[in-house]
Amino acid sequence: MTVEGIRVSRRWLVLREPADAAARASDLVEHLGRHLPATGRRVIHDLGCGTGAMGRWLAPLLPGPQHWVVHDRDTDLLLVAAADPPGPAADGAGVTVEGKRSDITRLRAADLADATLITTSALLDLLTADDLAGLVAVCAGVGCPVLLTLSVVGRVALTPVDPLDRRVAAAFDAHQRRTTERGRLLGPDAVALAVEEFRRVGAEVLVRPSPWQLGAVHADLAAEWFTGWVGAACEQQSELATETDGYRHRRLAQATAGQLAVTVDHADLLVLPRGQSV
Ligand SMILES: C[S@@+](CC[C@H](N)C(=O)[O-])C[C@H]1O[C@@H](n2cnc3c(N)ncnc32)[C@H](O)[C@@H]1O
Repeated sequence: MTVEGIRVSRRWLVLREPADAAARASDLVEHLGRHLPATGRRVIHDLGCGTGAMGRWLAPLLPGPQHWVVHDRDTDLLLVAAADPPGPAADGAGVTVEGKRSDITRLRAADLADATLITTSALLDLLTADDLAGLVAVCAGVGCPVLLTLSVVGRVALTPVDPLDRRVAAAFDAHQRRTTERGRLLGPDAVALAVEEFRRVGAEVLVRPSPWQLGAVHADLAAEWFTGWVGAACEQQSELATETDGYRHRRLAQATAGQLAVTVDHADLLVLPRGQSV
């Protein structure tokens, strides 16, 4: 494929950044810290960086000088990532950022050869099985730790419950698994497959839950998430569009009033290459 593809909106990424930061499994960062070189500059390649939120979360949690190479196919998002770099490292050391327009499904191990760490966030569901196999092979070729955060696992819970929730959730998951010109997207199957593929190449994989727990203080994000969720479901199953008219209004009114609680389950994976087990 080319570097063109479905565009992710900057507004959506900015809106979700604080919830993402709160959800990521920070104990994996403690494990990770024990598997990075004790000294020297860390070179971190963030794949599918969007606006650079991963670096803004992780760089201040890791000590030592860091150089982040942030990859995305969307040049507008790369400009935002470069304009809003991460703060200093945990010990005050400097952090630099370099943007790279890349199609991450075409990267080779040589492109990431200087990496001491590879990261992704909210990316795996957008890949096909072949894309994921390629990514695992590249990471195994580089031989550094890999932190893959915030992959959806296909479980959402809305409170109060509504009889239409389950149908919309099923249609949304089917939309995530839709067939594109590149093949079928993995959607919520990505986590299980990634664990299997990384273990197949001899890596140790730690898995942690990283749910979004949205309540009254996240009313804007809950409403935006709900709109996208039900929209994708209706795109997948057109008959849902008329059936969900009242449901949409009800749910959006609840979200706006801070009366909708939403849990969106994700998983974070820390991959430690062969020979670097916990
Ligand atoms: C859901 S966003 C997540 C962005 C960011 N990692 C975050 O957590 O805020 C997915 C990002 O991956 C990028 N992306 C998706 N497929 C890609 C590909 N094949 N090559 C490069 N970037 C890709 C999109 O442009 C988008 O910025």
